[in-house]
Amino acid sequence: MKLSQRAMSISPSATLSISDKAKELKAQGKPILSFSAGEPDFGSPLAACRAAIEAVNRGETHYTPNSGIGELKKAIAGYYKRRFGLEYSSGEILVTSGLKTMLYETIQTLTDPGDEVLVFTPAWVSYVEQINLACGAAVPVDTSGSGFCPTLEEISKSVTGKTRGMIINTPCNPTGAVYSEKALRMLADVAVKYDLWVIFDEVYERLVYGGARHVNILQVAPEIRSRVIIANGVSKTYCMTGWRIGYALGPGEVIKRIDGLQSHLTSNASSIAQWAAAAAINDVEDEVERNRAAFESRRDLICGLLSEIKPLRFVSPDGAFYIFIDVRGTRVPDDMEFCRKLLEEKYVALVPGAAFSAPGYVRMSYACPESSLKDGVARIREFIEARS
Ligand SMILES: Cc1ncc(COP(=O)(O)O)c(C=O)c1O
Repeated sequence: MKLSQRAMSISPSATLSISDKAKELKAQGKPILSFSAGEPDFGSPLAACRAAIEAVNRGETHYTPNSGIGELKKAIAGYYKRRFGLEYSSGEILVTSGLKTMLYETIQTLTDPGDEVLVFTPAWVSYVEQINLACGAAVPVDTSGSGFCPTLEEISKSVTGKTRGMIINTPCNPTGAVYSEKALRMLADVAVKYDLWVIFDEVYERLVYGGARHVNILQVAPEIRSRVIIANGVSKTYCMTGWRIGYALGPGEVIKRIDGLQSHLTSNASSIAQWAAAAAINDVEDEVERNRAAFESRRDLICGLLSEIKPLRFVSPDGAFYIFIDVRGTRVPDDMEFCRKLLEEKYVALVPGAAFSAPGYVRMSYACPESSLKDGVARIREFIEARS
């Protein structure tokens, strides 16, 4: 069967393929420790689960409005007002089947063939592929020389007459970098200067540690509201990855167009999951803080353990639940080979940096119990020491 060029050009998500491989080895009885998946290991909140069951019992099992139920949009609007002081009306909010879908739909809506989109690398796996799927060109802007935060100097080298937009992700997957107010101000000025749209992906906004503070770009630059689409969801904050609820907040005219595209793609997000998400956003605060604190102590643990393995280098992450490790000082400097051998020999699954446009690094998720982290780092140490 002849397959389309589009299908043939897609690289499947490396994070998913590594975790699939790890699952396969686990099914064969191997003692796998997987640090590859991007999801919290805590359960979804009870309030969300109850709301889902009640929704089923009430018969909320049919199509909903394409852009989402009023109750969830109200919860999202209330949350953005409380948390960031930002006002969004119902027509400026779209609920989607997971944030990944929201990003796909938004990039399709904003990108014409040949348009260039700035992506700050290392970057989450799907941005580049989604831009490719829209026949746009993802232009990497390297942040590895500046603590994984973008600089004006690097951006200026990448902007051309075809640049139309940029994707900002803070806290960042895979680096854990949290952009400062100063950096966001600079990015807002760049957006105005070059007339760019901005997708602001803040799905890890509740997971910040130490003295770091997450800031929404519109808090520092309210004047760019008309060019910003905020991307968020319940996956990471409320440990609800399987429910598949993401959302967009943005100018009504853009949201209307994304909504139209969605009407031919997924239609509404799951009715049941929408009720669960509304309950989580309205009712669950203590759990969010409890989980954040747990991630913070795991971050401290993993940083301490890894710092004892000399050839490894990393920047201590201020947010999200990943640590991005430079393996170029080891005897296996190639990240793909490092991950493949580590999985085969020590049954430890990490994700190669190449998946995030950053060869020479590996990503380790610390969304797992402390005992697994200790065991995993001990195996990584053995793997490295056996070669030194
Ligand atoms: C930066 C970033 N954006 C978006 C997503 C997608 O989230 P969702 O599970 O809601 O599709 C992820 C998931 O890993 C992510 O890391």
